[in-house]
Amino acid sequence: MIQVYKLLIIFSSVTLSSCYCPTDRIHNIGQCAYRIHCFGNIRGISLPNECYESTNYPVTVDVTVTDAIERFDDHLDLDFLNIITSLKVLGRWQHTKLAILMYTTRLRHLQLANIGIEEISGTPFYYLARLETLDLSYNSLTDIAELFQFQIHPNKLRKLSLANNAIKDIPSEAFDELSSLAELDLSYNIISDLSEEPFYNLTKLEILRLNNNRIKDLNGAVNSLQNLKHLYLRGNQIQNIDEESLNIIQHLETFDVSWNELEKIKPIMFSRHWDHFTNHSICKIILTGNHIINVPNATSQEISSRFARTMNKHNVNILTELDLSSNSITNIEYSAFQSLIQLISLNLSKNKVIDFVVNANDLADLKFLNLSGNYITQLYYESFSAMTKLQNLDLSYNRLEFIPDMTFNNNNNLKLVNMTYNEIEKLDSIHITMFHPEGGVLDLSNNGLSKINIPYGEGLRLVTLFLHSNNISDPSLVDLSHQTDLRTVDMSDNLIWELDDSSLRLPGSSLVYLDLTCNKIHWIGPATFKRLPHLKTLRLGHNLLTKLEYGSFEGLHDLLNLDLSYNRIVFLDSKLLMDLKFLRVLSVRSNDMTVLDMTSWYSHKFDLTVNIDNNNLTCEWLQKALNDFNNGYTRVRPTVLLGGKGKNTVEGIPCLPSESESLIDRSQYILADERLLVTSQKILEAVREQNYYFRNFILRVMQKEEDKARKVEKAN
Ligand SMILES: *[C@@H]1O[C@H](CO)[C@@H](O)[C@H](O)[C@H]1NC(C)=O
Ligand SMILES: *[C@@H]1O[C@H](CO)[C@@H](O)[C@H](O)[C@H]1NC(C)=O
Ligand SMILES: *[C@@H]1O[C@H](CO)[C@@H](O)[C@H](O)[C@H]1NC(C)=O
Ligand SMILES: *[C@@H]1O[C@H](CO)[C@@H](O)[C@H](O)[C@H]1NC(C)=O
Ligand SMILES: *[C@@H]1O[C@H](CO)[C@@H](O)[C@H](O)[C@H]1NC(C)=O
Ligand SMILES: *[C@@H]1O[C@H](CO)[C@@H](O)[C@H](O)[C@H]1NC(C)=O
Ligand SMILES: *[C@@H]1O[C@H](CO)[C@@H](O)[C@H](O)[C@H]1NC(C)=O
Ligand SMILES: *[C@@H]1O[C@H](CO)[C@@H](O)[C@H](O)[C@H]1NC(C)=O
Repeated sequence: MIQVYKLLIIFSSVTLSSCYCPTDRIHNIGQCAYRIHCFGNIRGISLPNECYESTNYPVTVDVTVTDAIERFDDHLDLDFLNIITSLKVLGRWQHTKLAILMYTTRLRHLQLANIGIEEISGTPFYYLARLETLDLSYNSLTDIAELFQFQIHPNKLRKLSLANNAIKDIPSEAFDELSSLAELDLSYNIISDLSEEPFYNLTKLEILRLNNNRIKDLNGAVNSLQNLKHLYLRGNQIQNIDEESLNIIQHLETFDVSWNELEKIKPIMFSRHWDHFTNHSICKIILTGNHIINVPNATSQEISSRFARTMNKHNVNILTELDLSSNSITNIEYSAFQSLIQLISLNLSKNKVIDFVVNANDLADLKFLNLSGNYITQLYYESFSAMTKLQNLDLSYNRLEFIPDMTFNNNNNLKLVNMTYNEIEKLDSIHITMFHPEGGVLDLSNNGLSKINIPYGEGLRLVTLFLHSNNISDPSLVDLSHQTDLRTVDMSDNLIWELDDSSLRLPGSSLVYLDLTCNKIHWIGPATFKRLPHLKTLRLGHNLLTKLEYGSFEGLHDLLNLDLSYNRIVFLDSKLLMDLKFLRVLSVRSNDMTVLDMTSWYSHKFDLTVNIDNNNLTCEWLQKALNDFNNGYTRVRPTVLLGGKGKNTVEGIPCLPSESESLIDRSQYILADERLLVTSQKILEAVREQNYYFRNFILRVMQKEEDKARKVEKAN
């Protein structure tokens, strides 16, 4: 017994000496403002006297305790504990009374997250009259019935997080005293039943998070929350929302019921009471991931009285974003969006919509429309005609075969039109007259397109056009020569196999970026790019080029980057790139290149980086190239993305041992006379071979003479 006692003493003295708040972790960040890091215990800190007394300046003492021991009873520094304003505890406190909180009466912020708490006994927050935020998230709490009791009423607690615990039931009195609470997070628990009682006194609550629980029914739980602004119910099992709850939902700026089991939506869910909003509020209605099939007309009596478009009368500017993505919507009734106040974003992606025909006037404020992932084959002018503010239209993953005439006649503010993954094979017109003044992007990738023509007077302000992953084999069928604002064209991943001076019908006055990566180009004729004098980047990687022609790059006076990586160019002479006077970066990675002649680059006036990874260039060549660069003879520097170490590298760049070098290398292991022997054997072989050829030659000559002779004989 005595021994055990001794051991304990030793143990506690060890912990004593290792538990402290080292002076170098005490940061003074202002007048009586400190940030302090302690280990194990809070002890041995002395701050200037003035910070202890009730001072004129606000005292902020922010303490973090790592590996905190749960019992702080020994050697308490009550004076110091009493001035802590913010405390964060890290450690393992499975069952706790949170005894230390008895002494920290000026605490405003308390963080007890992720410290394994299963049970808190007593009423540890009782004396924390100034507590404003309390974070108990990521523990294993189940019982919170008696926890939130305070000596003084009303208390100051504004924000409470109980997220990621194991709370199943919310006892009806649990939050009774929290009448100042503005934000409550109960997400990631196992709450299945809600009722009104626990929330009854939370009259100041603005944000309630109940994400990822097992809630089936709101059960009036939010009915008394007159000030609620944001309600999050993501990832529950709600099938229905009762009428009474809807009354509160009409006050909400954020109503997130995504990933629940709603089958029916009521138009009233979309309408809002304007008097609950401040100017410029954005209402977010998030119904993603439910089982909604139909979006009904919003023309019933109850709604018409506070009809959305009359809102403007009150001079309050409220915007709405509606997300209906990932449902099973097949049908949208004509006036479905009538009750929404200034709808600016509508997401109908990942549904089963075939026809999108709605009253355009309800969508007149729309900036973002996402129809991606539906079964749309046709677009209707009717729906789009009033969307004059539309900026971002996502029609990807549908079944469009063409862009209909008229549809976009009134939409001159499009910034991004995404039509990737449709079934458009030929386009003689895009029927979009004009994009946004800042320029537009059109994505027509992944469509099986083999021909596209944008006639004069269309596609004004189009700046970027994506045509990658299509079926373009003849690039002259891509006629964009009238698009004088077009700067970037991506035709990568197509079937183009050769290019000559009539192939590219692109706007020379504006184009700066052309991507032809991943085609089948094996030949580039002279003057191919001559009409693109402003091109700055040209990408020809992943093609089948074996050699370059003289004049292929003629006229590319402004080109800065040229990508020739992943081709089959074995021999490259810098002479062929002489026109590229401004070139800064050239990539010839992965070409199996054996010769890269750099002589014509001696006069290159700019730094030029040549990327040579994965080629068959010799160390001899590399050494010379690097010497030339290091000595300032040239501004051309070979480099690699992936360097290496070891024998066959120069300055970290891998290379092939030069032939002469490799001979010498091998010779080191061969005895001199053996080498002689080998040499003479080689000579012998050569002589023998020559003899063989000579004999053959003689034989063939003799044969011919004989033939001739025979012919002459025959003729005679
Ligand atoms: C909370 O609500 C109950 C009724 O449920 C009421 O009796 C009590 O006074 C309220 N408490 C506070 C602190 O407001
Ligand atoms: C709301 O903001 C708009 C400008 O966006 C302004 O014209 C209007 O007067 C504001 N309304 C109120 C009630 O402040
Ligand atoms: C929806 O309203 C439009 C007129 O706003 C009407 O033509 C249509 O028949 C209505 N649909 C249904 C199913 O009531
Ligand atoms: C729906 O679309 C809007 C805008 O297009 C976007 O902000 C939102 O993230 C989308 N929602 C989902 C679930 O994709
Ligand atoms: C449209 O929705 C899809 C799927 O929900 C999403 O991946 C895409 O990013 C959205 N588009 C835009 C422009 O937000
Ligand atoms: C178009 O949509 C696809 C699929 O969502 C996306 O991968 C692509 O980045 C989008 N295009 C543009 C230009 O944003
Ligand atoms: C690509 O075009 C060829 C004819 O040029 C056609 O036979 C083929 O089916 C097209 N492929 C796709 C995916 O559209
Ligand atoms: C280049 O070297 C690789 C191995 O490094 C070899 O497989 C390839 O055949 C060589 N190519 C040429 C053209 O020498």
